[in-house]
Amino acid sequence: MEIEGSVALVTGANRGLGAAFCRVLAERGAARVYAGARDPGSIATPGVVPVRLDVTSAADIDAAAATCGDVTLLVNNAGILSPAPALSIDAVERGRGEFDTNVFGTLSMSRAFAPILAANGGGAIINVLSVLSWFSAPGGALYSASKAAAWSLTNALRIELLAQQTQVVALHVGYMDTDMAAGVDAPKSSPDDVAAQALAAVAAGDFEVLADEISRTVRGALSADLTALYPALA
Ligand SMILES: NC(=O)c1ccc[n+]([C@@H]2O[C@H](COP(=O)([O-])OP(=O)(O)OC[C@H]3O[C@@H](n4cnc5c(N)ncnc54)[C@H](OP(=O)(O)O)[C@@H]3O)[C@@H](O)[C@H]2O)c1
Repeated sequence: MEIEGSVALVTGANRGLGAAFCRVLAERGAARVYAGARDPGSIATPGVVPVRLDVTSAADIDAAAATCGDVTLLVNNAGILSPAPALSIDAVERGRGEFDTNVFGTLSMSRAFAPILAANGGGAIINVLSVLSWFSAPGGALYSASKAAAWSLTNALRIELLAQQTQVVALHVGYMDTDMAAGVDAPKSSPDDVAAQALAAVAAGDFEVLADEISRTVRGALSADLTALYPALA
């Protein structure tokens, strides 16, 4: 699929990776970029079309689907991290919030836009996942579980949408230089670079993007002894 001339809708487009997707899509010649945000007034990227869109709101999703009928590329980027150990007192409540946004938000958006993508020739979906789809970080247990679920969902969507020729791309990445990782003192990828890699994968017809070294390393270790990932188990 060509990025030039595409019509994209990006969720969580007001900051972080979502804003980077909007910038890079514009640079690559997208014909129109719908920038979804809970507060459309927070969209600062020039040239995009702001759309009110909370991915946990059925009403917002229905309204977006009714307005954005020319979409050929859906970027399911919106996500939240609500750090807590798995056995903490509020883990279920926090985890429900993460699953509502990271998993069911992605599912609801994909359901709403699948017929639109089909009508526009197939198109593509990029689901923003994480290296934590495969690795449970201390303190982020339910976030990791939500990204693992979103990875599995992405694989299911890819199969279900094959018949209508919609390409479904999984984007895995470690730390990026965004608000979500602001408190982390570790090497971080540039969101613009990650967005560019994901769009290049769409153009190349690929299904998976491993955007940084940690994602490539953890993906490669999945068939190895698990202690390679969790030395404490050794
Ligand atoms: N940063 C990292 O290190 C990292 C690593 C791997 C994967 N990721 C993933 O990358 C994606 C983008 O995250 P980021 O790093 O850009 O984080 P961020 O700076 O915290 O931005 C998160 C974005 O998601 C939006 N959002 C949250 N809940 C939403 C909802 N219910 N409906 C619509 N939008 C919602 C936020 O909107 P508001 O401004 O309204 O809150 C914001 O635009 C997420 O899926 C995240 O899990 C991030």
